[in-house]
Amino acid sequence: MSTPDIANGNTVYNQVCAACHQPTGLGLAGVFPPLDGSDWVTGPAGLPISIILKGLQGPIDVNGVTYNSMMPAAGYLTDQQIADVTTYIRQAWSNKADAVTAETVAQVKEMTSEQVLPWTAEQLQALVAEHSGSATSAPAVATSTTSTTLANTGSFDVAKITDKSDSHWFSFGWVIGALIFVVAIIAGLKKLTH
Ligand code: HEC
Repeated sequence: MSTPDIANGNTVYNQVCAACHQPTGLGLAGVFPPLDGSDWVTGPAGLPISIILKGLQGPIDVNGVTYNSMMPAAGYLTDQQIADVTTYIRQAWSNKADAVTAETVAQVKEMTSEQVLPWTAEQLQALVAEHSGSATSAPAVATSTTSTTLANTGSFDVAKITDKSDSHWFSFGWVIGALIFVVAIIAGLKKLTH
C-alpha cells in the first residue's frame, strides 16, 4: 500500500490545477468552480478521481452555482500524483474527506477505461444514482443497495471505492431531487396564476 503524500499533492495542485481553481480553492466566480466546500470533491473519492482522469464538460452545479464550461483531463499524471492531489483537495481549506491511495486511482482508472470524452455531471450523477438504487426515491434506498450487478457490468462502483463517505453523497442526491421538485411546483404555480 502506498500512502498519499499531501505535500506532493499540494505541489501537483499548484502546477496543474491552481491556475483555474486558484490556490485558495475558491475558483473564479462564474468561470472556474470552487473545490473548497464542493461535494464533487468530498463525496465518493471516485468522483474527483474520475474528473481528473477524463475531464468534465457541460452544466454542473457547485455550491449552488451552475457552471457550464469544460475542464481538460489530467490523465497523464501518474496514479500516485493523482492520489496525492486528490487527497490534497479533499483535505485542504475547509474540506475534510478521507485520503486516497494510488491503488484506488488504479481501480477507478480500470473501471472508467471505456470513457473517452470528458464526463458530464449528469453522467457522474447517474453512476452514483445507479449505485444507490435510485436518485429520486427516498433516502432509505441507500441502505438496501447491493453492487453485484454493477460489478459485472463493468460500470463504476462507487461503493467499492469509498466505503466511508457515500452516505454523504446520497443525501446530496436527495437534496438535489427535492430542489428540482420545489422548482417544478413553483413553475406550476406560476402558470396557474397567469
Ligand atoms: C483549464 C482550467 C482547469 C484546470 C487546469 C483544472 N480544472 Fe477542474 N474544472 C475546471 C472547470 C471549467 C470545471 C467545470 C467544468 C464544467 O463546467 O463542466 C472544473 C471542475 C472541476 C471539478 C468538479 C466541480 C467542483 O468545482 O468541485 C473538480 C473536482 C475539479 N475540477 C478538480 C480539478 C483538479 C484536481 C485539477 C488539477 C488536477 C483541475 N480541476 C484542473 C477548470 C479546470
